[in-house]
Amino acid sequence: MPSVASSVGSNPSDPRGHHVDFLVIGAGIAGLSAAIRLAGVGSVLVVTKEELAESNTSYAQGGIAVAMGGDEDVALHLDDTLAAGDGLVEKESARLLVEQGPVRVQELLEWGTSFDRENGQLMLTREGAHSRSRILHANGDATGREIAVSLLRHVRAIPNVRLLEWTTGIDLIVEQHNRVAGAILLDGEGGILKIYARATLLASGGAGQVYSDTTNPAVATGDGIAMAWRAGAAVVDMEFYQFHPTAFSAPGAPRFLLSEALRGEGAILVNASGERFMLKEHPLAELAPRDVVARAITREGMDGPVHLDMRHVAKDLHERFPGISAFLAKYHLDLNRDLVPVRPAAHYLMGGILTDVHGRTTLPGLYAAGEAACTGVHGANRLASNSLLEGLVFGALAAEAMMADRISNLFRPESFPSISVPAERTPDEQVERWIEDLRNNMWKFAGLLRDAQGLQLMQHKLQALAGTIPQGLSRRAIEARNLYTVASLIVTAALARCESRGAHFRMDYPQHNAEALHSVLYRNDISFCRSLLEAFVTQQ
Ligand code: SIN
Repeated sequence: MPSVASSVGSNPSDPRGHHVDFLVIGAGIAGLSAAIRLAGVGSVLVVTKEELAESNTSYAQGGIAVAMGGDEDVALHLDDTLAAGDGLVEKESARLLVEQGPVRVQELLEWGTSFDRENGQLMLTREGAHSRSRILHANGDATGREIAVSLLRHVRAIPNVRLLEWTTGIDLIVEQHNRVAGAILLDGEGGILKIYARATLLASGGAGQVYSDTTNPAVATGDGIAMAWRAGAAVVDMEFYQFHPTAFSAPGAPRFLLSEALRGEGAILVNASGERFMLKEHPLAELAPRDVVARAITREGMDGPVHLDMRHVAKDLHERFPGISAFLAKYHLDLNRDLVPVRPAAHYLMGGILTDVHGRTTLPGLYAAGEAACTGVHGANRLASNSLLEGLVFGALAAEAMMADRISNLFRPESFPSISVPAERTPDEQVERWIEDLRNNMWKFAGLLRDAQGLQLMQHKLQALAGTIPQGLSRRAIEARNLYTVASLIVTAALARCESRGAHFRMDYPQHNAEALHSVLYRNDISFCRSLLEAFVTQQ
């Protein structure tokens, strides 16, 4: 691991910390997409908690949705995105996503990303709620990995970008007038780094680890959202957590993602009696929006296991889905031969740090992109395979703003914050138990099917847990505190939204309200507003 001193070219003995032009927290598709552009005008430091390729991006299987088929496809991609988002999509964000997607994907191809082809043509698959096949994939079901690896290869060759692994964000540095001027970080050896930057981008991904059942890797602990919240940024739509319908379900096994592309290639869902239950739920059956499929599986699953069935698909499924096939083989299961047990798991956060379409947050100097941010592009429910595209498009747009805003480097030695290291440090095993307790309760009381009673119970549990929040500056203690913050934001917003919409389903309020409104959390207050632009203007 390179030391930060060699990485950012500062004087290592400088007691004031190190400074770069641009600090990027997170090395997934959004962070790297931004870093590539920022390097054109200044020094960039990208930090990530584990090895570089360990991001949610790398775990994306199904693919990247992109309208490569011309104007008609772009218009249909927009329609599908709006429809999946259940009335809450910000149209301008969605328009930018689908219109800029093809150009950004073309760039990826030029940087060496190798998507699957047949007879020289890009292969396209289909997933839930898409009106046509428009999803590119790589190595069958390893799309995210291929994109992460090719972006990293590209970034490594750029001299202005320094990459720092095993580094965890502790908090943002906030100066006068709420200006964010960098971040305080924990390095892999437990040392504290102060990085000053003209502009800071949070591209730190989602928070699936707030739930006991998730498809997300261990790194997805909502760090960026929690850091932004503590710094005073507005956060929106946190009640909208997408539960992927089909995570592997066997005792003791991880909730491994079984891509929606399986259903795109013909998989059906059957209940304990062997009935294909999605036919009665939605005209699109297994390819209905995710929230619809996830809820149907949960209901059916009360009477016994639900299975994915591909036994009728006349295709070599090992070749099309090599990663999934290899995983299932460990459990002596084969897509061509066996029924595969599934149930939903937390997958993607539609809400996040409030940003405009250029990644600007409500704090000057702070930007956010990808899953950590909320531009309203997914509304209440994300369309399948729109997340990689989101990172790519909005990472690039955030970089443009970071360069254009020309924030001067207000570098005032007297303003460097000191960080007090608490004398007490919660023992590791206690931290793990505390996190497990939080995650189990979140799953039980603030999961896929919610009501006021359960959410209020969760609120009381959070109050009780507050007294025992892990202390100290170990990575896990920092993550525990961040998960606590994210859980509190989710529960507050879920309780306040007395309706069902998209991924947020209240059993006590099963209908839509007449008007689709965003929830805005700002400095311990919650309000609702018609558009994110309105939220942005009022909370700045
Ligand atoms: C999947 O492959 O089903 C996941 C893709 C996504 O989350 O959009």
